[in-house]
Amino acid sequence: MEKSVKEIMALPGDGRKITVEGWVRTKRESKSVCFLEISDGSTVHNLQVVASREDPRYSALIPRTATGASLRVTGSLVASQGSGQSVELAAEEIHLYGEAPADTYPLQKKRHSFEFLREIAHLRPRTNTFGAVARVRSAMSFAIHKFFNERGFVYVHTPIITGNDCEGAGNMFQVTTLPLEGPPLHEGKVDYSQDFFGKKASLTVSGQLEGEAYATALTKIYTFGPTFRAENSNTSRHLAEFWMIEPEMAFCDINGNMDIAEEFIKYIFSHVLEHCPDDMDFFNSRIDKEIIATIGNIIESRFERINYTSAVELLEKSGESFEFPVKWGIDLQSEHERFITEKVYKKPVIITDYPKGIKAFYMKQNDDGKTVRAMDILVPRLGEIIGGSEREADYEKLRARMAEMGLDPKEYWWYLDLRRFGTVPHSGFGLGFERLIQFATGMQNIRDVIPFPRCVNTLDF
Ligand code: 4AD
Ligand code: MG
Repeated sequence: MEKSVKEIMALPGDGRKITVEGWVRTKRESKSVCFLEISDGSTVHNLQVVASREDPRYSALIPRTATGASLRVTGSLVASQGSGQSVELAAEEIHLYGEAPADTYPLQKKRHSFEFLREIAHLRPRTNTFGAVARVRSAMSFAIHKFFNERGFVYVHTPIITGNDCEGAGNMFQVTTLPLEGPPLHEGKVDYSQDFFGKKASLTVSGQLEGEAYATALTKIYTFGPTFRAENSNTSRHLAEFWMIEPEMAFCDINGNMDIAEEFIKYIFSHVLEHCPDDMDFFNSRIDKEIIATIGNIIESRFERINYTSAVELLEKSGESFEFPVKWGIDLQSEHERFITEKVYKKPVIITDYPKGIKAFYMKQNDDGKTVRAMDILVPRLGEIIGGSEREADYEKLRARMAEMGLDPKEYWWYLDLRRFGTVPHSGFGLGFERLIQFATGMQNIRDVIPFPRCVNTLDF
């Protein structure tokens, strides 16, 4: 393979012979020369190719090299005459791989709306914004593995098809090979014994329960994979298919859990600032003028830690009129979360000890009988980015809570076993990867930080 545009642009313009391959971003013509801006996605910058319009070796090709065309150009790398780039390629040979006719290629304008680009999700990676998002997403994935690897965590692949509902929220996609038009029935109900697994199956909403099985053997583990939620939420922060990072630590209480979560977020942000400076400059100039400063502040700040009860008092005393009225026991809505992080503390806030009624069955119950040892991390603009807790490690208490919540202990027998045999205090959390990318880039809509978004009523690709 030839050198990438990124590598070429770091070379001196000393006349050396170089071949570049990529797609034409823009073309400008003067009387005697043609300027082609070439991108190969390796950087947000383009390599300028200068071709003489009179040179018979390729002048015939130039009319066919419109925006979107794919080329291989060989020439000498020279110091650039123009501003904006230090080197440019003086073309000596051009090979046209494929044309992109201007009357049909959709990416003609300099800036298209994100709504329009969602309709051409297969071509949007060819724009500056989506190229930058893809590179930052990749760098963040790498940083996530690096963070856990450096701290001795074992990466565990938890299953995607599951027979249980981790969050108990019931918003799961069912997986079946039964004919939906006329499934086999038994006493008037669908006979799942004839389904592929001999029982009802779904796509997982979280790898946590299986993660706990590995944490109570290997002590420190994490998962990083796709999760699925059939939530009917048409918002800028919900996807039906999203990626989640879920560390789980044995011998760790809620305080250790909060410490590692805070350290984790700061580590990922520092990595992005250090390793993606050009893309971050791009987001800072085009998407959110404050983004680099905001991320820098988060790295420097100490996350505020308050409990749910004080958060509710704070909201009640705020004098703010919320769409959803506040009283102890409600689940905090995104308007409440944003008020707390944006108006009150102006930095990330960790809220702990939520009412048990609004949280999942597995969370450790506090002695007050009303709250559980949950911890959610809220950030400005987005609200919740992490949900986690210390887990209930006591067999009897866990069983009782499941019964209260109408969960059948028989279906969770193996999960209960983790408390029957060598139970230990343990904790973990889940970080929504796309929300973290939204935060790091300033991108407003979660559908623009995942290549092919899946949302309610949207499955175009
Ligand atoms: O708070 P959640 O539901 O927690 C869990 O699933 C736990 N089992 C995690 C654990 O303790 N191991 O989800 C965790 C995070 C949320 O804070 C949010 O960032 C993200 O996952 N998330 C979503 N992201 C995009 N689209 C959705 N529909 C999401 N639902 C949750
Ligand atoms: Mg949550």
